[in-house]
Amino acid sequence: MSENKRYNLHKSARLSVAPMMDWTDRHCRFFHRLMSQEALLYTEMVTAPALVRGGALHLLDYNPEEHPVALQLGGSDPVELGKAAKLGAQAGYDEINLNCGCPSDRVQSGTFGAVLMKSPALVADCVRAMRDAVDVEITVKCRIGVDDQDPNAVLPEFLAQIVAAGCERVTIHARKAWLQGLSPKENRDIPPLDYELVQRMKQLFPNLHISINGGIETLEQAQDLLDAGLDGVMIGRAAYHQPWDIMGTADAAIWGKTNALASAEAAVCAMLPYIDNHLVGGGKLNQVTRHMLGVFTGKPGARAWRRTLSEGASRPGAGTELVEDALNAMHNKAA
Ligand SMILES: Cc1cc2nc3c(=O)[nH]c(=O)nc-3n(C[C@H](O)[C@H](O)[C@H](O)COP(=O)(O)O)c2cc1C
Repeated sequence: MSENKRYNLHKSARLSVAPMMDWTDRHCRFFHRLMSQEALLYTEMVTAPALVRGGALHLLDYNPEEHPVALQLGGSDPVELGKAAKLGAQAGYDEINLNCGCPSDRVQSGTFGAVLMKSPALVADCVRAMRDAVDVEITVKCRIGVDDQDPNAVLPEFLAQIVAAGCERVTIHARKAWLQGLSPKENRDIPPLDYELVQRMKQLFPNLHISINGGIETLEQAQDLLDAGLDGVMIGRAAYHQPWDIMGTADAAIWGKTNALASAEAAVCAMLPYIDNHLVGGGKLNQVTRHMLGVFTGKPGARAWRRTLSEGASRPGAGTELVEDALNAMHNKAA
């Protein structure tokens, strides 16, 4: 599974797809990679205890075609994170990222995720332990603060500590997390975004590669933030819900290269051999196609595509002919 090729991750990270539990699984990443050869992809969060204590090494499975791909870890025990990072590096991941942004209850109970914004020295210890354990780059994804913290004071201190521990690249979700009273979903929308604060961090830490995240919906918006001096942009929900608009056109828009595929329909057709392979291995159609529902968003017939696929893909025995039916349904509506 491991690959020796080293990627220029600082360049790949000009645009990345955010780690998203239950969404950015290996099938989703494969689909995104078909559309963009350049973007950096992140796994869903995998907890260090699951890998180290639970031995759940299957959580590290991925396709070699996904490179460059970063493994996101959750945890707060430096020794355990060091061991988990080593397992990730052995599996061939190009980067190991520490989650300091996720506010969910389950995660809080294990003392990791966004609550770590309150313990920068501990995060620095974690980064050090992970760096000591592996050669691949160790990065952090964080918020601007939590609860009643003052982001203007907390964020520079947090960044200074992780930089001193050897972190060279960070992604900042440009809003606070409120650990009490908001659901994880609300925590992605309700605390206000503060892009300017993240931009100021670039002035304070000119040598730190800073990606900004949160509420970025188009590549034009992404380019504006890059033009404003940030090193990278991480997109989550928009990349998932409109994969063609973001991933399909990113290689040209962000890196000045030729896009890998000519159209959203070409992206669907390029997935068919992968889907066949998945079905032959005993997988279900819906496990792959659920990530493809948004590929025609905004285009004529998109609703017929989505409806045909979402109604049929979890039926027993559903195969690639359903994908072709969904394309036909879309063409008929569009005509
Ligand atoms: C369904 C879902 C699951 C998420 N899971 C994770 C996760 O595992 N780790 C993480 O750091 N952030 C997670 N996030 C947060 C995203 O990485 C990202 O920070 C957030 O969605 C804001 O970016 P956006 O506005 O571009 O979506 C998740 C977000 C969503 C929508």
